[in-house]
Amino acid sequence: MTISSVKPRILSGVQPSGKLHLGNYFGAIQNHIALQDQGEAFYFIADYHALTTLKSVAQSEADRAKKSRQPTRTAAEILRANVRDVALDYLALGLDPSKATFYRQSDVPEVTELAWILGTVTGMGLLERAHSYKDKRDKGIEATVGLFTYPVLMAADILIVRADQVPVGKDQVQHLEMTRDMAGYFNNAYGQTIFPEPRELLSQAPVVPGTDGQKMSKSYGNTIEIFAEGKALQSAVAGIKTDSRTVEEPKDPATCNVFALYSLFASPEEREEMANRYRAGGLGYGTVKAALVQKIDQHFSTARERRKELAKRPDEVEDILQAGARRAREEAQKTMELVRSACGLR
Ligand code: ADP
Ligand code: TRP
Repeated sequence: MTISSVKPRILSGVQPSGKLHLGNYFGAIQNHIALQDQGEAFYFIADYHALTTLKSVAQSEADRAKKSRQPTRTAAEILRANVRDVALDYLALGLDPSKATFYRQSDVPEVTELAWILGTVTGMGLLERAHSYKDKRDKGIEATVGLFTYPVLMAADILIVRADQVPVGKDQVQHLEMTRDMAGYFNNAYGQTIFPEPRELLSQAPVVPGTDGQKMSKSYGNTIEIFAEGKALQSAVAGIKTDSRTVEEPKDPATCNVFALYSLFASPEEREEMANRYRAGGLGYGTVKAALVQKIDQHFSTARERRKELAKRPDEVEDILQAGARRAREEAQKTMELVRSACGLR
């Protein structure tokens, strides 16, 4: 008898809600790409989920555009552009479609069918406890039914391919707990173990600070984009807040955002050397910022070139997403056969 070496099934989704930044890279993308070698990976662009917030995004873009007299874009135009950007970003950063199944969520409509069915076994109380719904509502995002049932759709994303492991950031842990609950509700309701209980896989990366020292996030406007270059990159890095110590004064690397970001790119030796220079005095923040710009520029230079090349071939990117959707649908349809039969739908 041979010991079977079944690879874990890994799944994660990313919302196409704006340009991806260093927090997304070190907190999620880098891990996703590494994991494609360790399991059967499914990664998708969560465009159905993005519909819950895009109207607000379009509104704030329109408000900013009014001030800077730039043309405004509709929510649909923003979504289309964001999906394209996320696809290019992942492919340029190393997602290999021969290893990982990469698709657009809305190309796998079985997900919404499963979301409906999960909704029928899930109590309101579970969703009422969701932090992310309350946080988004408190930020002024319209409290639609879609925003409220966001975790049900997310559970469907995961359960439709019966994933075992879900690499996400800490902020998604509650959604994974809810997914396990929903898997259990369904299995109990119909007396069959159709769904496994997926586990979150947290990345090793600490929370990446933004230019203002808070968590880097699109919604705080404190990001450094992965593919920023030239003037745009320089001005994003120049905007990192520091204290007002003079060049001569010794400085504390442990409390400096520029140092924290530099450390993500530096080797242990470079990091140690830079820390010593901080403590010795005679080092200005401008010098560290210039070193950081150089690091970011170098780190992503190959990916940046690859991205530019891929951007010239949108059909190829679309073909990759379509092939991914076909593969994901095969799995999704197998799951839905079991689910429909368990529920008596057929
Ligand atoms: P944002 O806060 O910019 O909207 P998302 O919520 O779309 O980012 O996050 C996508 C992924 O990137 C998630 O897995 C999240 O945990 C991770 N992530 C986002 N910002 C950071 C950060 N500053 N540090 C570490 N990981 C992050
Ligand atoms: N909610 C996740 C986020 O905001 C995105 C997401 C949607 C997701 N569906 C998923 C992540 C399924 C993992 C698995 O980051």
